[in-house]
Amino acid sequence: MPPGVAFASGHFTAENIITKTTRSGDLVGVFHDEAAWRALPAGTTIYQVEMLPSPDGEGELFVGTTHLNPGRVGDEFYMTRGHFHQRREQGEVYFGLRGSGLLLLQSEQGEARFEQVSQGSVHIIPGNTAHRLINTGSEVLSALAVWPTIAGHDYASLAQGFALRVFLWEGEIQARGVQYG
Ligand code: F6R
Ligand code: ZN
Repeated sequence: MPPGVAFASGHFTAENIITKTTRSGDLVGVFHDEAAWRALPAGTTIYQVEMLPSPDGEGELFVGTTHLNPGRVGDEFYMTRGHFHQRREQGEVYFGLRGSGLLLLQSEQGEARFEQVSQGSVHIIPGNTAHRLINTGSEVLSALAVWPTIAGHDYASLAQGFALRVFLWEGEIQARGVQYG
C-alpha cells in the first residue's frame, strides 16, 4: 500500500511517520505580545509537522503535513514560525486539508500578501518567497506541503518578523502592517 492521507484529519496513513512538535516555548520573539506569550505554558503545542520519510538529494521531494492548532497569543492568531528556503530559488506547494486560515507570503523586498487556506485550496509558493501559516479558525488547520529536499530552511532572515500580522480585533480578523526599526 502506498502512503495515504486521511482527508478528515489530515493525518498520514503510513508507517515510519516522522513528527516534529513546536511548542510555545520554542517560538521566542515570534508573537507580538511578549507578555501574553510568556503567560502561556511553555509546553503548549502550537503546531506539529508529520513527514513521510524521503531520500535526500537533488531532485528528491519531502511531503509533510502541518497541523496548526487554533488559538491566540493575546489578540494574535497562532502561526508557524515561517521561513525562506535556504536555497532561495526553491518553491513549494501547499494544499489545504482541513480548517481555515491564511498563508502569508513575503518577497525578499518585504512585500507581503495572503492567500486563504481552506479544504482543497492549492497554493504555489514561488521561489524567493517566505511563507507562514496562520490559523484564523476555531479548528485545527492542516495543510499538506511538498518541497525539494535540497530547499532547506532559513529562519534567521526573518528574525525581525514578517511585514504583516493577523489579530482578532473587536470580533473581526484584521491584518496589520508592522513597523520595524
Ligand atoms: C517546509 C514547509 C513546511 C513548514 C511547516 C512548519 O518547507 O514550508 O513544512 O516547515 O509548516 O513551519 P516552520 O518551518 O516555519 O516552523
Ligand atoms: Zn517551506
